[in-house]
Amino acid sequence: MNFIEKEQPIGVFDSGIGGLTVVKRIASALPSEDIVYFGDTARVPYGSKSNSTVIEYSIQDAKFLIHKNVKAIVVACNTSSSVAIEELKKIFHVPVIGMIGPGARFAINSTVTGRIGVIGTRATIKNKAYSSEIKKLNPNIEVFEKACPLFVPLAEEGWANHKAAYDIAGEYLKDFKKLNIDTLVLGCTHYPILAKVIQNIIGENVKLIDSGIASAETVKRELDRFDLNTNKHSPGNLQFYVSDIPLKFKEVAGLFLGKAITEVTKVDLEILAV
Ligand code: DGL
Repeated sequence: MNFIEKEQPIGVFDSGIGGLTVVKRIASALPSEDIVYFGDTARVPYGSKSNSTVIEYSIQDAKFLIHKNVKAIVVACNTSSSVAIEELKKIFHVPVIGMIGPGARFAINSTVTGRIGVIGTRATIKNKAYSSEIKKLNPNIEVFEKACPLFVPLAEEGWANHKAAYDIAGEYLKDFKKLNIDTLVLGCTHYPILAKVIQNIIGENVKLIDSGIASAETVKRELDRFDLNTNKHSPGNLQFYVSDIPLKFKEVAGLFLGKAITEVTKVDLEILAV
């Protein structure tokens, strides 16, 4: 690991704005840390792209954060975490924290019946990211996985309480309801926006796991482990960069982050390709 300083910011990236649900959790767990966020809004979604494309984009996203002098990289995208994390750990010499390991550990700690459901993008589910991680940690647990690709545009539309969201969740989760799971992993950083809908459909007795909460805890542990916690006590500074500023961006991004975003900077994709 290269020389890293405590006062450098934490870098967080996602394919779009979903990762802001993770920033919200990191900022609440580590309120004095500065955070630089990059959302690849010009190329979202990653969840329907091939592994090689997701790896290429994830490396570019992480490189951008390294240019911003970050002390750790949080891959706030389950899709990138499921296919690119090992590559990123090889290339970048700062702590790299993904979503899958932390989310899997939280799910294992939560289940009593040993029956866990996982929902995510097509790529995360096709790569069996959560089921292999959970089985590696506890082979006796049964894992049921389901891709729910329409949840991403629903969340980006800000339809957190819309009838269409209930209809779509009802359709996606109808088989899950028969599987007697007691824990459901929200294996996509967009999904916490739809948590109320998902909880309503799946039932109150199923515990939802927000992989952002799980990874924020891991970020805290990693900073402790490498003695990288800021010495500041004032509120951390949050900076937001995106590869495109879509219409309605600030309104919807505010919903994901849980507070208004006043400033966002667009980055040219050419910079990411170098
Ligand atoms: N936020 C991404 C994830 O956690 C999903 C969005 C996308 O498909 O790019 O997987």
